[in-house]
Amino acid sequence: MHIADNAFMPQEIPAMTQLHEEERVMLNALYPLLAQATPDIASIDAHLDALLQHTTVHFEQENRNMLIIEFRPYPVHKDEHDLALSAMTSAFDHWKASRDLPVLRHYLETELPAWLQQHIATMDMITARFLKMHQDKGGVLAFA
Ligand SMILES: [Fe+2]
Repeated sequence: MHIADNAFMPQEIPAMTQLHEEERVMLNALYPLLAQATPDIASIDAHLDALLQHTTVHFEQENRNMLIIEFRPYPVHKDEHDLALSAMTSAFDHWKASRDLPVLRHYLETELPAWLQQHIATMDMITARFLKMHQDKGGVLAFA
């Protein structure tokens, strides 16, 4: 499994594209670990913890910037983030309790990339457009 370089739509806010790219790279680093004959559980767990941490920060940054520009669809976009984060937490908790590799692989190789691709091309794309308009009018945003 490998997520192609152009899989995630580039955004009008480069900091958003950067966050998505970092997650694409993190996932691509995880896939070979999942495909090993004898998986290195500790290494997989460390990668999952880093991915959860990164995703949490990524969503917080988008949420914070939507609030700055008083973006009307904020509740809908934030709700998608909350659901995705809770799905990720459940998937990783399940993995740590069961060590069921096929279930973890299905989440990381199918569910999560499909969610990211769809979310980035819809919610993030329109959000970035409005953030860019705010920036073009001299407004300040809060990306790290
Ligand atoms: Fe988003």
